[in-house]
Amino acid sequence: MRVLEINGNYELSGSIRISGAKNASVALIPAAILADEETTICNIPEITDTDALCEILETLNVKVKRASESIIIDPTEMINTDINEIHCKKLRASYYFMGALLGKYKKAVMCFPGGCSIGKRPINLHLKGFESLGATITNHNNQYIVEAEELKGANIYLDFASVGATINIMLAAVKAKGITTIDNAAKEPEIVNIATFLNSMGAKISGAGTSTIKIEGVDYLHGCFHEVIPDRIEAGTYMIIGAMCGKNLKIDNIIPAHLEALTSKLLEIGAHVQIGIDYVIVSKPDKYIPTNIKTSVYPGFPTDLQQPFTVLLTQCEGKSKVEETIWENRFMHIAYLNELGADITVKNQTATVFGPTKLTGTTVVATDLRAGAAMLVAGLAATGVTIITNIDHILRGYEQIVEKLVGVGAKIENKEI
Ligand code: EPZ
Repeated sequence: MRVLEINGNYELSGSIRISGAKNASVALIPAAILADEETTICNIPEITDTDALCEILETLNVKVKRASESIIIDPTEMINTDINEIHCKKLRASYYFMGALLGKYKKAVMCFPGGCSIGKRPINLHLKGFESLGATITNHNNQYIVEAEELKGANIYLDFASVGATINIMLAAVKAKGITTIDNAAKEPEIVNIATFLNSMGAKISGAGTSTIKIEGVDYLHGCFHEVIPDRIEAGTYMIIGAMCGKNLKIDNIIPAHLEALTSKLLEIGAHVQIGIDYVIVSKPDKYIPTNIKTSVYPGFPTDLQQPFTVLLTQCEGKSKVEETIWENRFMHIAYLNELGADITVKNQTATVFGPTKLTGTTVVATDLRAGAAMLVAGLAATGVTIITNIDHILRGYEQIVEKLVGVGAKIENKEI
């Protein structure tokens, strides 16, 4: 079994360069099939989630070339085949092929996607959007067949500002006849990055980053060059690590505006944060002040940083509260934090953290990607040795995590036990 072994309680300093955003990359790769020519996307992180999507491209006879940090996707000889269950279940973002294949061929056949078990994660809003564009959806033996004679622009209101549904509907609508409007669209920076990519191919999308997105269908999408934005969640994870064990830890190659909710909470608890044009420098304070966080859609406090941030709250002097409003099952890290020495109770969707508590290394499980990140933050601050199991979850989302942390002084190893 492979584990991450951390010998904790070392001060971390130096610089960490942030990779391209996972949650943008996992949509950009499927989006690339909409072009009728080759596209090049740079700054794609080398993580297992992007590898899994490239495997799907290969099953669709799309040529994929990877050079370091860049990916060249050539769909000119693509064939629209069913995507098998194993590929669909490897990750959540396999569902972006539903929108992309529907948009390109007016037919997609695939299963319910996989991904972290952080809630029920229905895809009803995606399907409702496809239906509004004129698609019919049938489900045989757990396989969705989404098809349309013709896709026609429509006005679509999302009951919730879902990231996945907003992107999937954009992918399906980009070549539809006429104008599609998505109201109550998600506003995450990753959505803007996908819309920019599609527009560089010749799409006509406006309003991405606001709650109303307008898509004027086009007939042809050409090749282009595109760059993935920096990963705000990876950056946020390292900022939290900086607040926990950093001495002038520089988090480089970021867009600070994408991290404002986290930065303001770090300042509120007393961490030292110096903001530059494309970097932040974070140091741990002498004393941490308790605070409350409530996750919400962008630009609110991101749910994907809730789990690592909770670790920081264990060091605050007094009572802090964490309310999770996006995912109903995103407190699986709490039991393991308590095993490390934290004092946290959970009631309904709120965790109450009593601090400060000393953290001491033990064996813990990465139950999902960001729970794994939380274990990592805790292990780096804990005295003694922390062993994290189920590390596949962590490797799905953090590029070169061991190398990046070793580079700033952490004692961490990916090893077989
Ligand atoms: C994306 O998931 C991210 N994943 C998640 O990151 C992130 O936590 C989430 O957005 C919220 O920011 C990817 O980008 C691959 P949603 P997504 O659709 O698109 C409900 C990570 O750790 N909903 O915005 O699946 C849903 O149940 C991952 O990197 C419906 O009810 O999230 C949830 O409560 C985990 N019906 C809420 O909306 C739907 O059809 C937000 O989901 C779709 C969603």
